[in-house]
Amino acid sequence: MFKIVHYPDPILTTPTAPVTDFGPRLADIIEEMFLTMYQERGVGLAAPQVGISKRIFVVNCAEEQPPEGEIALINPEIVSIEGEQYGDEGCLSFPGLFAKKKRSMKVTMRAQDVTGEWFEVTGEGLLARALLHERDHLDGNIFVQDLEPAEFVKLRKDLEQMRREYKRAHARA
Ligand code: NI
Repeated sequence: MFKIVHYPDPILTTPTAPVTDFGPRLADIIEEMFLTMYQERGVGLAAPQVGISKRIFVVNCAEEQPPEGEIALINPEIVSIEGEQYGDEGCLSFPGLFAKKKRSMKVTMRAQDVTGEWFEVTGEGLLARALLHERDHLDGNIFVQDLEPAEFVKLRKDLEQMRREYKRAHARA
């Protein structure tokens, strides 16, 4: 199982590199990302959150998360966005933190699958939110960026606390 990288680890704010090698190691990474995501009770997980600075993320937003709900996106691109939603959002790299955030209501992305084949996926509501949140991770964008000021203020103390904990942990190491 992978270990989740927490804020403010710099890998979370570093843009990731495209995947060029579609060998068996990639399938292993993706499988382990799904396992880690389920273990942590998330609906999405991006590779930099497990210490891999590559353009890979996984989501499963289906009710009870059956295997059919699993989508792994490699080198994803946004094809189109539509509408708007406003709601709570969290991130496994920020345990226990939630903020209201504006997102598109619907998004279509194209991406490569584990074999390198291109495919398209369209998500609405929660799936759109997850796809956009995870794709942001690949550019080194974390969800606490571009929040409305009133929402950001609510998180400020918790973020300070996380930065202190990170510093302590790394001073020990
Ligand atoms: Ni996240």
